[in-house]
Amino acid sequence: RQVQPFYGQHQAGIITPQQASMMLVAFDVLASDKADLTRLFQLLTARIAFLTTGGPAPAVSNPKLPPMDSGILGAEIAPDNLTITVSVGETLFDDRFGLQALKPKKLQSMTRFPNDSLDAAQCHGDLLLQICANTQDTVIHALRDIVKHTPDLLGVRWRREGFIADHAARSQGKETPINLLGFKDGTANPDTADKPLMDQLLWVTADQDEPAWARNGCYQAARIIRFRVEMWDRTPLGEQQAIFGRDKLSGAPLGMQHEHDVPDYAQDPNGDVIALDAHIRLANPRTRETESSLMLRRGYSYSAGTTASGQLDMGLLFVCYQHDLEKGFITVQKRLNGEALEEYVRPIGGGYFFVLPGVADANHYLAQPLL
Ligand code: HEM
Repeated sequence: RQVQPFYGQHQAGIITPQQASMMLVAFDVLASDKADLTRLFQLLTARIAFLTTGGPAPAVSNPKLPPMDSGILGAEIAPDNLTITVSVGETLFDDRFGLQALKPKKLQSMTRFPNDSLDAAQCHGDLLLQICANTQDTVIHALRDIVKHTPDLLGVRWRREGFIADHAARSQGKETPINLLGFKDGTANPDTADKPLMDQLLWVTADQDEPAWARNGCYQAARIIRFRVEMWDRTPLGEQQAIFGRDKLSGAPLGMQHEHDVPDYAQDPNGDVIALDAHIRLANPRTRETESSLMLRRGYSYSAGTTASGQLDMGLLFVCYQHDLEKGFITVQKRLNGEALEEYVRPIGGGYFFVLPGVADANHYLAQPLL
């Protein structure tokens, strides 16, 4: 029984070692007033508390009524390492619920970056669930349970399923997952076991200019990024490595030996070893001035059929977390604009969200301090 505790200061699913399966589901909130919105968050809290703990599936009793549970996990619902992380978009703070004054200061609608081809049907949302578990059927069961319980409160807006290799997931973060361009992805992430560091870059804390209810939450950027894998697979190895600035097999920075070796850009001012437009160099120039843009990435691969023009539709569900959206994701993405990788990738959807603070115990519910 692998249980990820639901109650706590912060929500699960952020510093939790990545499980093998994930789903991002964005919803439009159909609640029409604050009382309905409160009912929604109470319901979500109850469902997540149950699903992440597991137990016997509610028995089928009356054959004239729909079963209480979809049944897709059988009679026993195993916790299966499930986490369901709830975040809210800026549209939840429009004039519907009277929450305008309580919007997290940096929460905004995602706007287009130069290399984006955003599809409106795969962007934004009032609410986002990041559902992760060891197996895909647990993830789907959780989604079906929540949708079944909230027909008058939530409408699905967009949805994407992602995965990382099972052996990487089982290593509990020790082995870095490999993305669909064939590179280890997540190597240079900050250490999630370092609590002071997490307080400094990940969680909203009391010393930030944010509404009090937002403390212990964080900002989330989600991006659906399609890869041109056909073209990538015909690109020379040397060029692929120069684009990222890392060795494909070992994951080491170019010119170094080991995956976790740290490049010293001051010794390579002209980009002779790691090009100036390499992904890792632009994303994190490792200078004092750019320290404030550190973030925690928790990406997953996706593979979803074929595009209208007959190409493989696969890529990355990029998800990152930070205490300040502008200093984190937006600043880093601006630095990445024009990077060598752009030729091979195209962001098509996603959005910006604020992850609600955790729920202390069974007497409390999600978003309670906001409502
Ligand atoms: C590092 C892949 C998009 C931010 C990396 C690495 C890879 C990678 C292979 C090196 C290993 C590692 O440290 O994880 C990709 C791919 C993307 C993508 C395929 C698809 C377009 C993004 C975006 C951002 C971002 C959109 C943020 C705006 C970072 C950061 C690092 C990194 C901060 C760590 C750099 C360091 O500290 O050395 N990425 N990435 N990446 N990426 Fe990305």
